[in-house]
Amino acid sequence: MKQLTETQQLKELIAQYRSEGRTIGFVPTMGFLHEGHLTLVEKASKENDIVVMSIFVNPTQFGPGEDYEAYPRDLKRDARLAEQAGADVLFTPSPSDMYKGEQNVAVQVKRRTDVLCGASRVGHFDGVATVLTKFFNLVKPTRAYFGLKDAQQAAVVDGLIEDFFMDIELVAVDTVREEDGLAKSSRNVYLTEQERKEAPMIYKALQQGAELIKDGERNPETVIKTVTDIIENTSGVIDYAELYAYPELTPLKTLNGKVILACAVQFSKARLIDNIIIDIDEWERS
Ligand code: PAJ
Repeated sequence: MKQLTETQQLKELIAQYRSEGRTIGFVPTMGFLHEGHLTLVEKASKENDIVVMSIFVNPTQFGPGEDYEAYPRDLKRDARLAEQAGADVLFTPSPSDMYKGEQNVAVQVKRRTDVLCGASRVGHFDGVATVLTKFFNLVKPTRAYFGLKDAQQAAVVDGLIEDFFMDIELVAVDTVREEDGLAKSSRNVYLTEQERKEAPMIYKALQQGAELIKDGERNPETVIKTVTDIIENTSGVIDYAELYAYPELTPLKTLNGKVILACAVQFSKARLIDNIIIDIDEWERS
């Protein structure tokens, strides 16, 4: 595995791969890798000649008071795991290289951000879309891999690729979970022992909600009440529990088509998010 830290080095390497006609799978991350990230690399490795993984804790997507400084970092361990999973190139740029001097342009996301995490994390998805536009231009990937754990992010990237005519195939990958159902996340290390025991209730609540829909419930309020009632039994505080059309993230009076049931729960030091995406039409057909 090649490990690069400079944008210029990466540009040269990518130019070489492209001149050789190789396909490139790209997995952007902020590091502190776990099986969720590594599943993306494994999939990319099966589907492309070359896999580029980036590790970059992107300052522009963190708001004031969020955990930019405290975000967990362990590059040595990450490099070993990335290589084992099948990454060919690990790119770990510095903030001053990714954001050289004062910036002339930033990407502003106009839709799919007024709900869920976007509602409370103002500017977060602008930062994500801006850094991904930079990465996409550097890596020139054939395919880019995103986890559905961050389903709103995947929806925003889908809109970015479409609106800016980017020649990139977005590959959305199912959420990888711990055995007890908790979605894997770099932020799970912030949970206390007691909170770690309670956290799997989040997915259980979402599953109960999904079951209701499967059984024919079409009123979003009823489904959400079931989810919140279950999560309220934990010490976490519900930031949101909502249901929208996916990937448009628009509200629905009556559930139909593809929907996302998503929630965010604040524990003492960790804010956890999770979701289930349900294709109601598909369920009705089967
Ligand atoms: P990060 O949180 O490190 O996540 C990197 C990728 O891993 C994202 O696509 C995310 O959805 C995916 N991922 C995380 N946990 C997962 C899980 N349990 N199962 C499946 N996939 C999972 O998301 C970011 O970084 C940043 O916003 C980034 C896209 C890199 C832009 O800075």
